[in-house]
Amino acid sequence: MSLTGKTGLIVGVANKRSIAWAIAQAASAAGARLAVTYQGERLEENVRELAAELTDPLLLPCDVTDDAQIASVFESIGREFGGLDFLVHGAAFAKREELAAPYVDTSREGFRLALDISAYSLVALTRGAVPLMERRGGGSILTLTYLGSERVFQNYNVMGVAKAALEASVRYLAADLGPKAIRVNAISAGPIKTLAAAGISGFSSILQHYRDRAPLRRTVDTAEVADAAMFLLGPAGRAVTAEVLMVDGGYHATGM
Ligand SMILES: NC(=O)c1ccc[n+]([C@@H]2O[C@H](COP(=O)([O-])OP(=O)(O)OC[C@H]3O[C@@H](n4cnc5c(N)ncnc54)[C@H](O)[C@@H]3O)[C@@H](O)[C@H]2O)c1
Repeated sequence: MSLTGKTGLIVGVANKRSIAWAIAQAASAAGARLAVTYQGERLEENVRELAAELTDPLLLPCDVTDDAQIASVFESIGREFGGLDFLVHGAAFAKREELAAPYVDTSREGFRLALDISAYSLVALTRGAVPLMERRGGGSILTLTYLGSERVFQNYNVMGVAKAALEASVRYLAADLGPKAIRVNAISAGPIKTLAAAGISGFSSILQHYRDRAPLRRTVDTAEVADAAMFLLGPAGRAVTAEVLMVDGGYHATGM
């Protein structure tokens, strides 16, 4: 198992449909011991029930807008695991109204919130993870993005702008941390019906468009994203950093 003896932090599990949960399952099956966070008491029970199938997990609250909670996550991991080999960042949020109205109507507060939760949080979490990864002689950091960073998808709006910032952050973080043997990558997943996706108006028509147009003529599922994540998190991906890996059935390559 390629992650045997490794420890990982998974941020972004809300329920069994979460992409981060599929990655947690795959990493656990590959032998890793995991810390899994939940965003507030509302999601604690969900995440606690799911985590029951992991081996000796560490469950921690973490709202990524709260620096004190982020610090406390890494303190606990340092104490319990002594170091950290990988971090999976799967947190994103935009207000529902920003994902329905025209982009030009994005409010200042809606923009700030979406960029804070969906992009800045990668920087804050990475900063917390670095000292623990240095103790292990390196590490792998993975975030989740979407093609809406580069192309216009109806109603993706401010989230597309947040993903553009997130992908640029991947490259800057990779440049900062490469000398410490810490790799930073993103997976750009095709659309999947999750809680976050439910906030995007007309999401079903995006799914249908992928079925019609992607080279593989289908959408992807969370287990397929998790398989690609195992490549980037584990030893097979050891020379890959600053990369955005498309796991979308080839949709990104299509034109007319
Ligand atoms: N579902 C898709 O079609 C799709 C496609 C490409 C990329 N992604 C990305 O994958 C990632 C995971 O999303 P998902 O689709 O699995 O949905 P999800 O709703 O299961 O996951 C989103 C997570 O973000 C967390 N989150 C939101 N605000 C937070 C906060 N303030 N603090 C901590 N956590 C917070 C939620 O608790 C949730 O666990 C997101 O970055 C999303 O943009 C999703």
